Amino acid sequence: MDLSVRTSKGDKFLRSFIDSEKGTVNRELYINQDVFEQEMEQIYRRCWLFLGHESQLRNPGDFFVSRMGTEEVLVVRDRKDQKIRAFLNSCRHRGEKVCRYDQGNSLIFTCPFHAWTYDTSGRLVGAAGQNSPQGYAGDLKKEDWGLTEVAQFTNYYGTLWATWDKDAPSFEDYLGPFAESVRYMCEGSDGVDNGLEVFTPFQKWRVPTNWKVPAFTSSRDPEHGAMTHRSVNAAAIGPMRELQGGDRSRKRQLIENITYVCGDHNLGHGGAWTKYLAPGIAEYVDGWYEDGVDDYFREMHVKKMEKYKDRIVPPQGHDAGHFCVFPNFIMDAWRWRIWHPHEVGVVERWSLFGVDKDAPKHVKDAVRHYVMRYNGPSGATESDDMENWNYVYPASRGAVAREWDYNFANGLGHGFQEDGAPGALVFNGNRSEEAHRARFSRWLAFMEAESWDDLYPIKSDANHRLW
Ligand code: FES
Ligand SMILES: [Fe+2]
Repeated sequence: MDLSVRTSKGDKFLRSFIDSEKGTVNRELYINQDVFEQEMEQIYRRCWLFLGHESQLRNPGDFFVSRMGTEEVLVVRDRKDQKIRAFLNSCRHRGEKVCRYDQGNSLIFTCPFHAWTYDTSGRLVGAAGQNSPQGYAGDLKKEDWGLTEVAQFTNYYGTLWATWDKDAPSFEDYLGPFAESVRYMCEGSDGVDNGLEVFTPFQKWRVPTNWKVPAFTSSRDPEHGAMTHRSVNAAAIGPMRELQGGDRSRKRQLIENITYVCGDHNLGHGGAWTKYLAPGIAEYVDGWYEDGVDDYFREMHVKKMEKYKDRIVPPQGHDAGHFCVFPNFIMDAWRWRIWHPHEVGVVERWSLFGVDKDAPKHVKDAVRHYVMRYNGPSGATESDDMENWNYVYPASRGAVAREWDYNFANGLGHGFQEDGAPGALVFNGNRSEEAHRARFSRWLAFMEAESWDDLYPIKSDANHRLW
């Protein structure tokens, strides 16, 4: 009996695992090895993926190792032209990891196996036996054996992204209506573009679950908060101090607005979406325990208020919540979360936290302490989340459990589109699962598509939309 559910490109079989009328998704899509392999080839091989931040590479020769799906990439600032490039971290000789460190600075990268050596632009500059008469005898064409470079790379207001597919659209087109929010999230607290640096080294840890559990459905998932984070809420452990009865938001949203969950069913991005009805941003609200920190942020905030006094902030602006850039990157003010799949039941989470790059030390220290006590494996809030994410996978993969569909029907049928709204944005209630459904619309499009020709520009909504 053939148990494979792996489909060939263009095949529509995977559709049968999603019931768009009921709003359900079969668990097979989360636990099946074939599906996972196909995701790596057709989603992670094609999408723009987040690699890191330029502040990790300040000096020529600085490097760090990142991931694109299950594969490692070496991201390095060249010593000669100072450009940042990204390469598969796999030696062209016989595949060893060329770089075995998380980050650092190097003159060259010498493979630890047989010492093939690459410079910081990825060129092969030396190979054992290259000139030996009994070896390569001068016939090794070094220019053909450089490290494998990504097909496209971009630095978007300090955030570094790449894709393995030369036919992928530009990064800005890929982001569509979410581009301005990504840009906004990279501003300093004074409103200046690309104003952040990230704390390094950042937190990395593995969670025994399928990557889609957190990546697709934790942004935005407001219904989990009251239950999952009950103890944090009850204890009123705010990010900084008790704000208005234990509110865990950093600042209050005082500009008139309507809050939605929004999913782009063509592009797959989505999450919180606040429609601000008036320009400007609200007055600063003090919130820090540590001396002098509010003074700094209040001063920066005045500058930001000036910038936005006549402008409406983007939908995720003003600390309005997080959103997912398809497929595995979740972003909000200062907190960037990447979900790297390792295996069908293992995902590695990286958390990057931004801080104003020109902030004084006492401010950077205060922000670092805040993000550590609030987020990550030992943080008060995310340890709650992991209690749930950890058990979803083992509780879903048994012979009985796998027969039952997951329910993504919250708000199904209540979404609406607006004339003139970009992309295929569907707005829905503040507590709906619209963004989750949008992710599956795009997931299916990728899994069915032959190539980017079928994926962008969006040719026909009907072919790609589940909901
Ligand atoms: S595998 Fe790298 S030098 Fe042989
Ligand atoms: Fe949570």
